[in-house]
Amino acid sequence: MKLARTLIFFLSVQICMLANTVNASGLSDLVEAKDWQTISPGIWKIELGDMSNEIRYTDFAAEPPKLEVLNKKSSPIFPFNQNPARYIQNNDGRIMVYIPTDLTETIYGYGLQLDGIDKSRTVLDLKVDHWGKGNGKTHAPVPFYISSKGYGVFFNTARYIKVYTQVGNRKDANNNPTPLDRNPLPEDKIGEWDPQPGAGAVEASLIADGVEVIIIAGDNMLDIVSRYNLLSGGGALPPLWGLGFWNRVHAEHNADQVKADIAEFSKYNIPLDVVGLEPGWQTKSYPNTFEWQTKRFADPEGFTKDLLKQNIYLNLWQNPYISPEAKIYDKMYPLSGSHMVWLGIVPDYMLPEARKIITDQHWNDHISIGISGYKIDEVDGFDNWLWPDHATFPSGTPGEVMRQTYGLQMQKMMYQDIFKKHNTRTLSMVRASNGAAASHPYALYSDSYDQLEYITGISAASLSGLLWVPEIRSADNGREWLMRFQTTAFSHLAQLNAWSSGTKPWEFDDVTDDVRDVLNLRMQLLPYLYTAFADYNQKGIPPLRAMLLEQNFSTKSEVIKGTLDSEDNPYATDEVVNRNDQYMFGPSILVAPFYDKFPEERDVLLPVGNWYDFYSGELVGNGTKITITAKSLDNKIPLYVKESSVIPMLTKAVINTGEAYGHPLELRLYGTNSGTVRIYEDDGKTFDYQKGNYRIREITVSNGEFDEVISKNGSKAMFGKIEKLRIMTK
Ligand code: GAL
Repeated sequence: MKLARTLIFFLSVQICMLANTVNASGLSDLVEAKDWQTISPGIWKIELGDMSNEIRYTDFAAEPPKLEVLNKKSSPIFPFNQNPARYIQNNDGRIMVYIPTDLTETIYGYGLQLDGIDKSRTVLDLKVDHWGKGNGKTHAPVPFYISSKGYGVFFNTARYIKVYTQVGNRKDANNNPTPLDRNPLPEDKIGEWDPQPGAGAVEASLIADGVEVIIIAGDNMLDIVSRYNLLSGGGALPPLWGLGFWNRVHAEHNADQVKADIAEFSKYNIPLDVVGLEPGWQTKSYPNTFEWQTKRFADPEGFTKDLLKQNIYLNLWQNPYISPEAKIYDKMYPLSGSHMVWLGIVPDYMLPEARKIITDQHWNDHISIGISGYKIDEVDGFDNWLWPDHATFPSGTPGEVMRQTYGLQMQKMMYQDIFKKHNTRTLSMVRASNGAAASHPYALYSDSYDQLEYITGISAASLSGLLWVPEIRSADNGREWLMRFQTTAFSHLAQLNAWSSGTKPWEFDDVTDDVRDVLNLRMQLLPYLYTAFADYNQKGIPPLRAMLLEQNFSTKSEVIKGTLDSEDNPYATDEVVNRNDQYMFGPSILVAPFYDKFPEERDVLLPVGNWYDFYSGELVGNGTKITITAKSLDNKIPLYVKESSVIPMLTKAVINTGEAYGHPLELRLYGTNSGTVRIYEDDGKTFDYQKGNYRIREITVSNGEFDEVISKNGSKAMFGKIEKLRIMTK
């Protein structure tokens, strides 16, 4: 008995020693990720496991990485030298990547997450799906996050990924919090028990042979996102017309009804550049033929060209699922997957033959007659709409990978085989996207229709190389209508989607003038907005962006300047604040829309620096929180401009972008100092800008005068002369 006890004691000491050994070395079953390759300064990649049969999101980028720009960037140090990234391949086919974080680090991103951009301490299923209840499933679940410590991580693999961000405490990690007693005695003063003790890592888990991980470091948060966008080919540059106002008509409208709608827009003097036709333009929809319903549109070419004469561009709704009545059905049948969607076949666009069939048909029947682009619907989900994960496709691409990339496949195919091939730019829409998509000229949209989610989408999109349409459809009253119009007017793509409601911008008499005003303001800001998109294209800087990408954004009245510390803050990152209901529109204008929760009064956090009311030039604050009312702004959308910004605008609103060409400009300088601005110009339509055919006007404003220099003169002028200068300060 004694011997037995001694043996048990001896054994348990051995076990304890073993456990201690594990603890001392830590994470012993994980393999260190060692062979990082440098892509460009500040960007490193590694392949973990076997990538030979895996598909990467970067395979679907519209343009190659802009290495010439990336190579001129600074060379930050690799963020995981001291605390390495690791991985493990389980024997069930699962691979897990372990990226160390610390508990004070905030993690932002993961694509179009409409419930907020701070994703610290979450578990997310990054799967393309119709936006529902969060948990990571969304229209564009991009596996890219950025950390408040100044780096980004991109899992460049087209698989379902589940990310445990600071969740899941490994027993052998050396950075776990100390366990606390949940029911302490009253006299024991201990900290509050945490139901979810933070963990010091992001653990990304997927079933795959391998995964590619890309680490991006930069000088600040904006620089990290810009490098990600440059790696994805640089941001998309839409045609100028894409930045005007879009109106999607009722799904069953015919040519005469569309024309009548357009005439009404001019009667009400409401800007209009793009008309979207919804499903009824086809002979059959859900599943689709992509062929014109001649009972509604007897002469598609004549109709399209007529509208083009009025500078109105047509965009066509579609989803990809092909009806047995489509002329291309028989040819496409063998090139489609095992399962159908709404009883339409699902083409396998990984196959060049399938791409050729559809792009030839689209070119012949739509784009060659003057159609400007598409709205690619239903490439997202839910599970009970789309093909199952076990569906098979003739290219051998797994159903899961098809799900994660179908939206990207459609974007790339149309970009390359239709628009770029025929040297004509598009701005189009798509309901699913994913990683490395910045160079695609497609804006995402959703049926969610929640006002705060729609505003949040602007910030979320800006962190992951996406564009976003917080469209308007209907409202319960004039105030809601106006607030929604104001948000859409200050988004990537300004659209009324009346496919079901048939509503018109003048739906609510009491706000029609205000609706017109905000759309007019968007039109006046075209030179400013177009230049912001050119910066997206050339420098990767998102045209609209989350406040956390703004330097010196802090809740405190003083800037919290990050101090350089090689361990804790190797990038001297400033303190950033997660704020989803205000954002930057271009480099200088802060937008804080009213919405259902705050329809009449709201607060706005102003970063450090002087900020001026856009309309009056009044100095409103510096590093503070202000409260504003709709009444004090005459129901306008709250807009604030940074000290020394020069805003280039058209002197007057125009009814469409066609009238913007050659239109005289006004400059507004905010504050008392001098300021500079760049205006980008090109032909607004083709890809000739990629050959250097563009123009840059550099303008300096000081002492009440401006000086203009054309620093690059590769194209004709786009906008007119500067006729007016206003110094906006009170
Ligand atoms: C929905 C889409 C709407 C509209 C509608 C037409 O899926 O989100 O915007 O296009 O289809 O049937």
